Amino acid sequence: MPKAKVAIFISGGGTNMAALLYASRLAECPYEVVLVASNKGDAAGLELAKIEGIATFAHSHKGMERAEHDTVMERAALDAGADYIVLAGYMRILSEEFVSHWPGKIINIHPSLLPKYKGLETHKRAIDAGDSHGGATVHLVTPELDSGAILEQVKVAIVPRDTPETLAERVKLAEHQLYPRALSAYVGRGSDPTYLLDKVRELALKLPETRERESHGSPGFRVGTEKSGKFFAHFNDQHHGSEHVAVLVKAGSMDELLSLVETQPGTYFKPAYYGASGWIGLILNRPDVDWEHVDEWLERSWRTVAPARLTKLMDAADGF
Ligand code: GRF
Repeated sequence: MPKAKVAIFISGGGTNMAALLYASRLAECPYEVVLVASNKGDAAGLELAKIEGIATFAHSHKGMERAEHDTVMERAALDAGADYIVLAGYMRILSEEFVSHWPGKIINIHPSLLPKYKGLETHKRAIDAGDSHGGATVHLVTPELDSGAILEQVKVAIVPRDTPETLAERVKLAEHQLYPRALSAYVGRGSDPTYLLDKVRELALKLPETRERESHGSPGFRVGTEKSGKFFAHFNDQHHGSEHVAVLVKAGSMDELLSLVETQPGTYFKPAYYGASGWIGLILNRPDVDWEHVDEWLERSWRTVAPARLTKLMDAADGF
């Protein structure tokens, strides 16, 4: 899989940016840093990025509307070819419009164990509350501050002599471990068979009267009763030497199968053994899988084998 392209936004020291950057140079890191951008021209992190040969961009927000400044930053990320925007001590709240352009594609690190202590002075608040631990959270960015889905967290013990400064120092060390790891897992999820199987399972099992059943050592999904049900999907993780992680669904005909495989070899393949009986492979370990398309195929395949009493119900529901 090609590496995900990441633009990192900073406002200050940029130690998390540095951790992300150096991790990106280790073997098998699934992302590369294409830009470090800042709202402060003198952010120390920009200097480090330059030394390391990374493209940088700076534009002050002073005297600008929030949305206007966001647009300038977004343009820089787009021009750099970024797939993801990674906030690392970027001290600006993003406008709703900006966030809406990048659903699931903006990531942040926050120095607390969210949902505790959103906003500022997190270490002081944790110490004042007598918490046993502080920590850090990597989460997706949504328009509501520090409230998007949590990807990973790390706990850091608080000791009685801690001040916000001493705690912040140890939390930073933990952040530098956490951020590259959480970001790698998130942007690399498209080649992780466990994540891909979970997605397929979620879509397959929301169809009526379906259940999961293993078939030749691989997860499969059936429709109908326990006894007389029929398979409508098989999940294959690099089955029989194939490099693909895929879901196999029933093609309409052998002609359709062969023509899809020939015209869209990046999306479809003819699976060993199963292909002969009309199963087509939908490749899942590729960038930007269209899950709605996978969903449509699962439903279509379900329809071809589901008993009439169920397809009739589905047709009736579609009529509304
Ligand atoms: C970190 O503590 C991070 O959690 C918060 O801002 C700080 C950035 O520090 N969002 P640095 O610039 O990465 O050193």
